[in-house]
Amino acid sequence: MEKEKLKQLLEDMSLEEKAGQMLQLMGAFYQDDVEGILTGPARELGVKAEDIRMAGSILGTYGADALKKIQKEYMERQPHHIPLLFMMDVIHGMKTIFPMPLAQGATFEPELSRKCNEAAAKEAAVSGLHVAFSPMADLVRDARWGRVMESTGEDPYLNSLFTAAEVKGFQGEDIGEPYRVCACIKHFAGYGGAVAGRDYNTVELCEHTFREFYLKAYQAGIDAGAGMVMTSFNTVNGVPATTNRWLMRDVLREEMGFEGVLISDFSAILETVAHGYSENEAKAAEYALNAGVDIDMMTSVYSANLAQLVREGIVEEAVLDEGVMRILELKNRLGLFENPYKDADGEKEKEILLCEEHRKLAREAAGKSFVLLKNDGILPLDMEKKIAFIGPYTDCREMISSWAITGDSGDCVTIREAAEEVFDSSRTVYLAGSPMLGNACELIGFTEKVPEKVTEEDRQRMIREAVEAAKGAEVVVMPMGEHYLQSGEATSRAMLEVPEVQMELFREIARVNENIVVVLFNGRPLDLREISRKAKAVLEVWLPGTEGGHAIVDVLTGKVNPSGKLPMSFPYCVGQVPVSYNEYSTGRPNLPGMKERFKSKYIDIPNAPLYPFGYGLSYTEFEVSPVELNSKELKDDKPVTAKVTVRNTGKAAGTEVVQLYLQDVSASVVRPVKELKSFEKVSLAPGESREVFFTIEEPMLRFLRADGTVGSEEGEFRVWIADSSASGDYQNFFYVKQ
Ligand code: BGC
Repeated sequence: MEKEKLKQLLEDMSLEEKAGQMLQLMGAFYQDDVEGILTGPARELGVKAEDIRMAGSILGTYGADALKKIQKEYMERQPHHIPLLFMMDVIHGMKTIFPMPLAQGATFEPELSRKCNEAAAKEAAVSGLHVAFSPMADLVRDARWGRVMESTGEDPYLNSLFTAAEVKGFQGEDIGEPYRVCACIKHFAGYGGAVAGRDYNTVELCEHTFREFYLKAYQAGIDAGAGMVMTSFNTVNGVPATTNRWLMRDVLREEMGFEGVLISDFSAILETVAHGYSENEAKAAEYALNAGVDIDMMTSVYSANLAQLVREGIVEEAVLDEGVMRILELKNRLGLFENPYKDADGEKEKEILLCEEHRKLAREAAGKSFVLLKNDGILPLDMEKKIAFIGPYTDCREMISSWAITGDSGDCVTIREAAEEVFDSSRTVYLAGSPMLGNACELIGFTEKVPEKVTEEDRQRMIREAVEAAKGAEVVVMPMGEHYLQSGEATSRAMLEVPEVQMELFREIARVNENIVVVLFNGRPLDLREISRKAKAVLEVWLPGTEGGHAIVDVLTGKVNPSGKLPMSFPYCVGQVPVSYNEYSTGRPNLPGMKERFKSKYIDIPNAPLYPFGYGLSYTEFEVSPVELNSKELKDDKPVTAKVTVRNTGKAAGTEVVQLYLQDVSASVVRPVKELKSFEKVSLAPGESREVFFTIEEPMLRFLRADGTVGSEEGEFRVWIADSSASGDYQNFFYVKQ
């Protein structure tokens, strides 16, 4: 539709109709009998029949036929026949579930995530959806926060690359094209900084850190063209983000250049009353609208108040119009005025959902996301040996995460099923050995399937049988870890251990067999001290998605050589979090030669995490030569080129992620001890070597200076090129001259 026609449409709409566009309801309101709904959930939410008739968008429902029916009936009733927008959390796949986002970060391959999202967009689009509530660009440092699994980790540069790639994967060049959906960057802003890792808690960040670390990935997503942004639940500088006019108007729209639709998080406008910021719902509506929030997700705060607020002259109609126009424009960009069903197609759903091509991609992505944390030469497995697979994930399909809400764990391939395809059945046994969670573990408030309780007698029997199997095996592979409901939204944990009930099994097995390979499932970094000490190998597999079983067997057998690197530090123990490699320099660094007692350190644990950012082993070894620089000066915008030679010194072909880190040694504000600035994935045959070049340009050295401007400063810069963030002494340096 032409812009002029959109304007005319807007002019012709009543205030109630405009407010309706700004309301988002759940699909349930449209599928079931409206009378029943109106006396049930709708009444609790204050939603009226008129709201259902007017709401401009729907969340949480999918399926081509169902959405086409809803769209048709809705448009017939809507006064101007304006189509609905259908939105859904498509976080790491639609039906074909790819590895969870943190795992995707471990691939250090944003292009792969672009492809995964392209596949997810295709599946979502044929299922009738128009908007995916993804990617989550929140930077994370605290493993207690269950939503770290939805992030790509602790590094602003890595997060930015992934956010941009994921937006492109969903949207392509034009969201109006077939099989494209609009991406929604979330949660703006700083949601990953929840104090003490407790979900929905306050965020305490100084503006410097907020801008230098937290805002970067959202910016990358906006620059990549994301059509939508979602507000966050937390406060920023003491004001809830959703009603924070400075954050939304000055920062998001003015500074960051976002022109698309801003949607609240689920009931976040209403929650500003509980925050003690908005005196009542009418005030919440006024503040959120004035902050520029265009859609109220799942409450009736906007629909019940906006028209009245305009009539009373409390908010300007122009402000309302601005928001409605953005929503209409998004519908227009998606081509919905011409074809309100876009790609919804029941036949295509059958053909595209979980197709071979998507499953293949899921298997590749999962294999590349695994991180080999330890290997005393036991992996890859010797297929001639007697192998016992023991652990609750051995034959378990629940490996797609709590956020894979459109996925079906029934479509997953288990480790056992995948192993049976390649291992000799006379030399392998498979046992759970333990329930996933102990009976004392309560998952309060969960409506999903929580695991059934196992009697103590049965549990002891499971352990006995497992111990017997372990005695008769040469190698024990133990697929174990967090239950999938222990990570995701509202799953903060104060303890970062593998469930105790599984650790008991692990200890019993370790008593009788020292050749243990732990295959670790988890949604967050865990405290792995005991497992690392006792197991010969630890393979981190996260929540790997639909093809997890195949991908795990690919790596265990050496068909795929692991190449993943940690996108988030694994703490030594919970007392160390929040922890990240890129911390600011202190006046008392924990360096040798400094006064031992009065350094910035713990007296009971090391400062270093157990496994640092950027770390991950391979079945082969790589040697990275010292850094050579073509110049010791970066002057007149002439870049410095850094060079290393990477050699595969082992016996297998493999891939190394060669990482460039810099430190700005002194500046007008304190700078991080190290920052990732670039990386390259290099695949080498045994004995092969390759020169890797990095161009260090002035824009890479810019930061928020003491005077509030962004730019670089003169002085010394240290350079590391290494296989992880913990690569010891710096290897070279150059000076910036201005
Ligand atoms: C989450 C969002 C999500 C929304 C809709 C909220 O609770 O914080 O990330 O997109 O629900 O499902």
